[in-house]
Amino acid sequence: MNRHLISIADLNRDDALLILDTAEELAQVADRPIRKLPTLRGRTVVNLFFEDSTRTRISFEAAAKRLSADVINFSAKGSSVAKGESLKDTALTLEAMGADAVVIRHAASGAAHRLAGWVRGSVVNAGDGMHEHPTQALLDAFTIRRRLGRIDGLAVTIVGDVLHSRVARSNVLLLRLLGADVTLVAPPTLLPVAVSSWPCEVSYDLDSLLPKSDVVMMLRVQAERMNAAYFPTVREYSRRYGLDADRMQTLPEHAIVMHPGPMNRGVEIAADVADSARSTIVEQVANGVSVRMAVLYLLLGGAQAGGSQLEAAR
Ligand code: NCD
Repeated sequence: MNRHLISIADLNRDDALLILDTAEELAQVADRPIRKLPTLRGRTVVNLFFEDSTRTRISFEAAAKRLSADVINFSAKGSSVAKGESLKDTALTLEAMGADAVVIRHAASGAAHRLAGWVRGSVVNAGDGMHEHPTQALLDAFTIRRRLGRIDGLAVTIVGDVLHSRVARSNVLLLRLLGADVTLVAPPTLLPVAVSSWPCEVSYDLDSLLPKSDVVMMLRVQAERMNAAYFPTVREYSRRYGLDADRMQTLPEHAIVMHPGPMNRGVEIAADVADSARSTIVEQVANGVSVRMAVLYLLLGGAQAGGSQLEAAR
């Protein structure tokens, strides 16, 4: 495996499967009375969050703590970043403190890549602008495999604001790598210009795809990244591209409904759909901790240093 996880392109199929299999083993720790392994004792993981986050930040913190790492949480608000300190100077400060891994979320696409050039530790991209969010894709793949038993050959439909979504890009790359057939559905204004070069199909007709989908992944309409009107009204968006109970009825019996969160209930997904038995939204959050434990464990050399401890966790 590479030292960093910045893009799904950093992984080959075997790396991706190793992460999912390791996460499966580490998930068992969550079911124990004491949810901790000593594997990363003495190592330091810094969570560097320049952009708002609930799930991802808490999830990385929980993952690092369950592996006994020391965790430093840094959020741009209330730090010297608010005084204009650059990403590079912030990185050098972390470096001086001896971070073994830096988990970064930043509004600029490419920020994680830049950081990797400045620090000695491993860099994990927890979302860089509209570019990638590899651990989200890994936890989504993990969730699909747990619910449906496989990924290879499945029809996955990803619906909504693809343009602003780092989750969509990472998922298209990863799910294709693992053998799924991915179709994106969005209004033409919410598709990236280069989408024709992505390894997936594109459609504008959600209703024709639902009966053939094993997985439907709904994306949040990212109003905070929109500097123009991308669709006429929220009501119209929701009528054409939202998943409501009637549309959900047209899915095959076994199909699942996913959303990375945070949701706009009533816009891209109806509340009763989000709370239905087909929805994996809460499982995705729980699985996120196991998948991030696996990523930190593998990047920080846990496989060599603490393999026996993972064995012991079985
Ligand atoms: C996503 C993100 O931040 O990219 N959320 C997440 O990490 N769970 C998706 C989003 O913000 O809509």
